[in-house]
Amino acid sequence: MKGFAVAPAKVILTGEHFVVYGTTAIVAAVNIHSKATVSQRSDGTIVVSSSSPRCSVSFTDGYCEVLQGRRNTRAMLEPICHVARATLEHFDKEKQGLDIQIDSAIPVGVGLGSSAAVAVSTIAATAKLLRRGLDRDAIRHLAFKSESMIHNFPSGIDQTISTLGGLIAYRRRRPFQRIPLKRTFQVIIGDTRRTRSTGAMVSKVKTLLAKGRRLKRQILRSAERISRTALTTLQHGDMRQFGELMNLNHELLRQVRVSTRELDRLVLAAREAGAFGAKLTGAGGGGCMIALAPFRYTESVLHAIRDAGGTPHLVNVQREGVESWLLI
Ligand code: PMV
Repeated sequence: MKGFAVAPAKVILTGEHFVVYGTTAIVAAVNIHSKATVSQRSDGTIVVSSSSPRCSVSFTDGYCEVLQGRRNTRAMLEPICHVARATLEHFDKEKQGLDIQIDSAIPVGVGLGSSAAVAVSTIAATAKLLRRGLDRDAIRHLAFKSESMIHNFPSGIDQTISTLGGLIAYRRRRPFQRIPLKRTFQVIIGDTRRTRSTGAMVSKVKTLLAKGRRLKRQILRSAERISRTALTTLQHGDMRQFGELMNLNHELLRQVRVSTRELDRLVLAAREAGAFGAKLTGAGGGGCMIALAPFRYTESVLHAIRDAGGTPHLVNVQREGVESWLLI
């Protein structure tokens, strides 16, 4: 018997980084997925294997050993061992061993919420294997454990959207607001393929904002205003204005030095090819940018991103969050 779960990736439409300090961010689940398949082991060990990149670790008595993989294998898979252990503890099954197979199509370390989606799918699949119910709040709280291992000050946005799906206005430690999706829409992603550490980027912004209280207040106030206006704009379905707010948001992210020359190049290329707006998404410092475009310009924006050196992906916002099944 196996527990199986699928969880979506995410794109932050507005408000990343500033969300860590309590302002609003708008985030969407998109149709790239992490799948987790979990079965029982009799030896009390947790073994996590990933198919892409191909690597595996074993976790016994709190010690994580790399079985197969490269330099960053432990950093990538150890948090998954901890969330699996935390899920077992949640059900008073801490002695249980597990085999966890991760098959994720979400590029790692580029701002699409890969680590959170892997954690969320692992938790849901583990609960399913144990034939125990776990509500969505419990899933996202358990997933917070692995996000806290990745950087010390996570806002919780990634695991929330991967658990719940759809479109959400999110504030740290506040009730989130679901934004009704009349119909799904496309998001164009441009990947610089330059991976970076979310923790390092969050620390960089923290150091910068610590330089002046007034500066911090002004930046956070602007960020809040952008996301709040973007929320209204989205509710009215005015994508043109939403795009302009994305452009403003990108400028704010440039001010806190998380954009790069490559990201700026892709953002500019997308706008010139007809996008409503474009900005970096996630922690920046590399990783991905996103653009929203009128349907008739989708192809030209995808081409422009490729011509500017990025890898384009066309994704849809998806309503579903994590889903799980018991495989018999
Ligand atoms: O790890 P990423 O690149 O998907 O981005 C996380 C979003 C941040 O706002 C930068 C951090 C956070 O915890 O909200």
